Amino acid sequence: MLEPLAHIGRDPATGGYLRDAWSDADLELREWFAGEAARRGLDLREDRNGNLWAWWGDPSRRPGVVTGSHLDSVRQGGAFDGPLGVVSAFAALDILKNREIVPDRPLGVVCFTDEEGARFGVPCMGSRLLTGVLGSDRALGLTDDDGATLAEVMTRAGRRPYDVGRDDETLATVGTFVELHVEQGRALVDHDRPVGVASAIWPHGRWRFDFRGRADHAGTTRLADRDDPMLPFARVVLAAREAAERRGVVATVGKVRVSPGNANAIPGLVSAWLDVRGADERAVRELVAELARFSGGGPDVREESWTPTVDFDAALRDRLAKVVGGDTPAPVLPTGAGHDAGILAAAGVPSAMLFVRNPTGVSHSPDEHAERADCEAGVVALADVLEDLCR
Ligand code: GLV
Ligand code: MN
Ligand code: MN
Ligand code: MN
Repeated sequence: MLEPLAHIGRDPATGGYLRDAWSDADLELREWFAGEAARRGLDLREDRNGNLWAWWGDPSRRPGVVTGSHLDSVRQGGAFDGPLGVVSAFAALDILKNREIVPDRPLGVVCFTDEEGARFGVPCMGSRLLTGVLGSDRALGLTDDDGATLAEVMTRAGRRPYDVGRDDETLATVGTFVELHVEQGRALVDHDRPVGVASAIWPHGRWRFDFRGRADHAGTTRLADRDDPMLPFARVVLAAREAAERRGVVATVGKVRVSPGNANAIPGLVSAWLDVRGADERAVRELVAELARFSGGGPDVREESWTPTVDFDAALRDRLAKVVGGDTPAPVLPTGAGHDAGILAAAGVPSAMLFVRNPTGVSHSPDEHAERADCEAGVVALADVLEDLCR
C-alpha cells in the first residue's frame, strides 16, 4: 500500500520526500486518501482545519475509535514517518473486515494536516487548531519561506482558511485515538521486538533567534569595523551543544537563513531555529533561557512552538501492551519526537501510540527504514488493538 505513494513528492536526486502541507504533493496524497476511503465505502469528511477523516460507522451517535497519522513530510524526509500510520490504519480496517468484526463503536481513519511544521514552523498544526491550542489568528498569519501566508496557500488549494480554528464538534467524534508510527530511535532493536507502545513524549519546542548586524563588503571592510551577525550565531550554536550536554537534553540548529546571502558580503541578518527536547521540562526551558542570556540580549528570541510533557493514558497504554504482546507485553518507550497523538492526549482524548521497529533508528532522513515483516506485525498489532477497543 505504500507503493502508490512512493513517487509523490520524491526528490529523484536524493530519494527524500518534499511533502509540505498544501503543496501539490500534499494535495495528491489527499486524493490518494480520498480514494482509499471511497474504495472501502468509508464516509469521507474534511474538517475546517484540513484534517481528513474516513469513517466506518457514524461518529455523531457515539464517539469513535480513531487511528491514523499524517502524510506531510519534513524536507528530504523518509517514506515512513507519517504514511506508515495512515496506510496501516486502512490495512488494519481491512483485517477487521476479513475477521468479520462488527464494531460497536465507529472506527475512523485520520490524516492530520501539517504534522511536521516544515512549511510554517508550527508542528502538528492540524491537531493544534482542532483542539484550540493554536488560535486561528496566529495560524493564518504564519508565513512560509516564500512569504506566503497559511491563508493564501489554503485559498490556492481551494479551501476556506477563515474557517480554521477550534472544532469541538469534530473533536467530540474522537473517543479514543491510536497512532501507529515508525520508531524514531533504536530502542526496539535493543528489545528485539517489532512493535512497542509509547509511554510519554518529551517536552519540546522551537525558538527562532534573529541575529542582526550590518551588511557590508567582504573584501573592503576592515575586521575591526564589522558588525557580523554570523559570529554571535556561531557562538550560540556551540554554546547550545555544550549546555545540552551539561543539562542532559538535546538541542539542534537544523535551519538557518542568512540574509541577504551573498558569498562576498557580510550578512545583515542570520535567523536560526533552535529545537530543544528532553525528559526534564525545566532543563529544556532553562537551556533556552541560558542561551538568551549568553548571547547578551543581542538576538531577538521568539518561541515558535512549545509542547509540554505528554504522559499517555496509563490504563490504555498497558492495555495496548498486553493486546500486542500477550504474556510478554510489548516494550513501553518514551520518545523525543512530537506527534498529533500527543496534542490529542493533552486535550483530554485517551490516546496511545504503537511504534514499529526501525533497524537503524534514522528518521527525518531519506535513510529512514522499516522492514516489511515489521510493518506487517505493526498492522496486525493495530488491528488487534482496534478490535479490542471497538467493542
Ligand atoms: C516531528 O516529527 C518532530 O518530532 O519534530
Ligand atoms: Mn516527523
Ligand atoms: Mn510523524
Ligand atoms: Mn512528528
